[in-house]
Amino acid sequence: MNPIDSSHPVARIALRYPGAARVFMRRDIDFCCGGSRPLVQACEAGGHDVDAVLAEIAAERPQDADVDAGAMSTAELVDHIVSRFHRPLPDELTRLLGLAVKVRQVHGPKAGERLQALVEFLADLHRELLRHMRDEESVVFPALLGGYPQAVGAKLGALTDEHTDLATRLERLRGLTDRFTPPAAACTTWRVLYDGLAQLDADLRLHVHLENNVLFARVAR
Ligand SMILES: [Fe+2]
Ligand SMILES: [Fe+2]
Repeated sequence: MNPIDSSHPVARIALRYPGAARVFMRRDIDFCCGGSRPLVQACEAGGHDVDAVLAEIAAERPQDADVDAGAMSTAELVDHIVSRFHRPLPDELTRLLGLAVKVRQVHGPKAGERLQALVEFLADLHRELLRHMRDEESVVFPALLGGYPQAVGAKLGALTDEHTDLATRLERLRGLTDRFTPPAAACTTWRVLYDGLAQLDADLRLHVHLENNVLFARVAR
C-alpha cells in the first residue's frame, strides 16, 4: 500500500516528499498557489490517474538539492530561500534577457512577434521580481524573523497575490515558448535560452511553494 494519502493537500505532499514536487511539475499539477486542493481532486481535474501519480512519487529518487523545509526553523528557511532562490535570480534573469535579445536580433524577422514578446516579458519579469524580492527581504522577512508578523499582515497578503500573478505569468511563458520546446531548426543560443527558461520556471514554482505553503503558512497559523 502507498504510504502517501491522496486526500492530503498537494502542497503538504510536496513538502513532505521533495520528489513529489518534481512529479507535480512534470505533470503540471499546481502545488504552489493552488496547493490547498487534495491530491485526488487535483488529479481528477487534470485527468491524471491518482495511483499512477502516487507510484511515480514513490519511485522518485532523492536528489542532493532536496531539503526538508518543514523541519527548518524560520531563520533557516529564510536563509535557504534567500541563498538558493533570491541571490542567483537577478543575474540569471539578466543572462536570460541577454540571450533572448540575441535570439531576437538573429531570428526575429523569421520568428515573428513571439521573440519580441518574450524579450518584453522577461524585461517586465526582471523588474517585478526584483521589486517583489526587495519587499520580502527588507520588510516581510525581518518581521517574521523578529517575531512581529502581525505588523506586516497587509504586505503578506499583497505578496501572496503577487505569487498568484507570477503563476499566471509562468503560464504565459509556457505559451510563448511552446513549453520550452525550441523550433527544430533553432540555433544553440535559442536552445540554451529555453533550457534556462525551463529551469527558471521550475525554480520559481519551488520558491513560491516554500514561501506560500511553508513560511507564510506558519504566520497564518
Ligand atoms: Fe521570494
Ligand atoms: Fe515571493
